[in-house]
Amino acid sequence: MSFPLVPDVATTPAEEIARILTDPGFGIHFTDHMALAIWTEAEGWHDDRIEGYHPLALGPAGAVLHYGQEIFEGLKAYRRQDGSVWLFRPDMNAARLNRSADRMTLPRLPEADFLAAIGGLVALDQAWVPEADEMSLYIRPFMFGSDQFLGVRSAAEVTFAAIASPCGPYFADGISPVKIWISTDLSRAGQGGTGAAKCGGNYAASLLATRQAQQQGCSQVLFTDAADHEWLEELGGMNVFLVTSDGRLLTPPTSGTILDGITRDSVMTLAPEFGLTVQERPISLSELLSGIGSRNVVEAFACGTAAVITPIGTFRLEREGKIEDFSLPEPFGPKTADLRRRLVDIQWGRTTDQFGWTTRVA
Ligand code: PLP
Ligand code: COI
Repeated sequence: MSFPLVPDVATTPAEEIARILTDPGFGIHFTDHMALAIWTEAEGWHDDRIEGYHPLALGPAGAVLHYGQEIFEGLKAYRRQDGSVWLFRPDMNAARLNRSADRMTLPRLPEADFLAAIGGLVALDQAWVPEADEMSLYIRPFMFGSDQFLGVRSAAEVTFAAIASPCGPYFADGISPVKIWISTDLSRAGQGGTGAAKCGGNYAASLLATRQAQQQGCSQVLFTDAADHEWLEELGGMNVFLVTSDGRLLTPPTSGTILDGITRDSVMTLAPEFGLTVQERPISLSELLSGIGSRNVVEAFACGTAAVITPIGTFRLEREGKIEDFSLPEPFGPKTADLRRRLVDIQWGRTTDQFGWTTRVA
């Protein structure tokens, strides 16, 4: 598919875009265009196009509204100092979309079509890619069952779309250390479930725990495993890492219940540059809490496309009816800062990208 432009769009005046880009927030403003394609059992993928950003028409019997057959991705476009615009590891998003599609019995979208949709959209809306530090264009590709039928089965018609939104930091406090609520009762995912897929239902399932986190004065929730509530998993929308005093970087294995983050993979690749030995292995809650107490665990951070690398200052949880805080010895420690700087320097093209992670689109 080539996603041709359907020319029907009055674009936003440059002064209005400039005003929005001074303080875009996260996920609030949307660019002038969107990519679309339809899949049917009979025709496969077809009707690919880029149109003006507009509401979708979906009948009330639309499959996704009833049974939630939906998946999505998140990636960013970054403007470099010379004005060019680049994506970070979009092939990984294309591959993960297809893993999610397999789990949710949605059709695979060939990687070339994913890249054509995203590249075409960003090139067209490049005026919306901010120049300022820590700001970028967040791209949200998604796919859902759009046929009109109330029987429970895999959708026979599916819509793929991609929209884009200029953004600054995900958390209201920018990149200062966040407080994280550890949920030991609600679960996000279980063995055999959809935890490793990027499907909307996982996020719906996380909202009550996120509300509890907010009621506890925390910005996000860290889930523990559904069976024992003893093993760390991930946050509602980010992966988690710990740094130990003896130079290890710990993160739980994805093992079916955790999203295989692209930032997570990038961090693990970069870690040895900073003298860190990566250990991808189960981490128990008691190892975390006693590790903070004994200053064996010195730094912690959350990471994801939206969150980049956000330092964790404090973990809060309820134990035996009491709310307890465990504050990291180094709330925005040197290893977190080194990894973050290296990652964003690659994303913004300020350092050599020996991995070939970045791709120019405009
Ligand atoms: N875990 C969850 C549940 C997420 O929603 C995200 C964000 O996409 C991540 C982890 C991090 O993934 P990535 O680094 O690919 O954005
Ligand atoms: C992303 O980082 O792309 C996500 O999907 C996470 C969400 C919290 C915005």
